[in-house]
Amino acid sequence: MNASKILVTGGTGSLGSLVVDRLQTADCNVQVLSHSKRPGTVQGDLLTGEGLEQAVEGIDVIVHCASSPTNPRQVDVEGTRRLLQAAERAGISHIVYVSIVGVDRNPFYPYYGMKFETEQIIEQAAIPWTILRATQFHEFALTLIQFLDRLPIMLMPKGFLLQPIQASEVADRLVELALSTPAGRVTDIGGPEVWTAGDLARAYFKATGRKRNVVEVPIPGKIAQAFRSGAQLCPTQKYGKVGWNEFLRQLSKKE
Ligand SMILES: NC(=O)c1ccc[n+]([C@@H]2O[C@H](COP(=O)([O-])OP(=O)(O)OC[C@H]3O[C@@H](n4cnc5c(N)ncnc54)[C@H](OP(=O)(O)O)[C@@H]3O)[C@@H](O)[C@H]2O)c1
Repeated sequence: MNASKILVTGGTGSLGSLVVDRLQTADCNVQVLSHSKRPGTVQGDLLTGEGLEQAVEGIDVIVHCASSPTNPRQVDVEGTRRLLQAAERAGISHIVYVSIVGVDRNPFYPYYGMKFETEQIIEQAAIPWTILRATQFHEFALTLIQFLDRLPIMLMPKGFLLQPIQASEVADRLVELALSTPAGRVTDIGGPEVWTAGDLARAYFKATGRKRNVVEVPIPGKIAQAFRSGAQLCPTQKYGKVGWNEFLRQLSKKE
């Protein structure tokens, strides 16, 4: 068994649960923080700070995956501040944080702006840290497409550039970082291909044997301009091996 005791915040979420599986496979002593009363987890709420002191007691490393896109000011920014205060008192030796590629280039999008602020809070903390930025997960792109697919017309933002990555590959890298010494801001990671949002949707319909017209809509404003200009990409850091079509193939095999 790895001697370090690791707390995974957001360990019940899409990415965090993959991190937990991998840490357990590596024979690590893992605890999962959750603000819901879920069996097998330690209760702690980033929104209120309740339970955080107890959750970090005896912990060596925190892998911080918890996030709330609907309340990022309180859960991500202030919640991380609360987590760090408890962690500093408990003498945590390393915090690993997962952020998003280009949050500094597109802070106009409020969630990204808050992730960028959260990064800065971690960078200023007394605890040694590692920050990994990853591009959007395949799973996230799929959820978005399936949501928009419910509407009478399939609309996608025109020219938005994305470089989706398999969440499991992000989890692999996070685990590697959690089991290493603090490294500061490490190299961003992205998927193997750059796509437009419209083409991601078209590939989805092709893979699922559906004929649906995708209408690309020009979106005005700074946020959209940043997405079109490639703010969310890291084309020279194609860490992920699994592309969008392969992800869709794997998905159809599971269904
Ligand atoms: N999705 C993407 O495409 C993507 C891309 C790059 C980076 N990221 C980053 O990766 C991280 C994980 O993303 P994800 O998509 O896996 O998220 P997710 O599935 O939505 O999971 C979010 C997690 O946050 C926890 N959480 C929410 N509110 C909380 C609170 N008040 N206190 C404690 N925990 C709370 C939830 O746990 P409980 O409900 O059990 O408390 C849940 O496990 C996020 O930081 C995200 O910004 C995501």
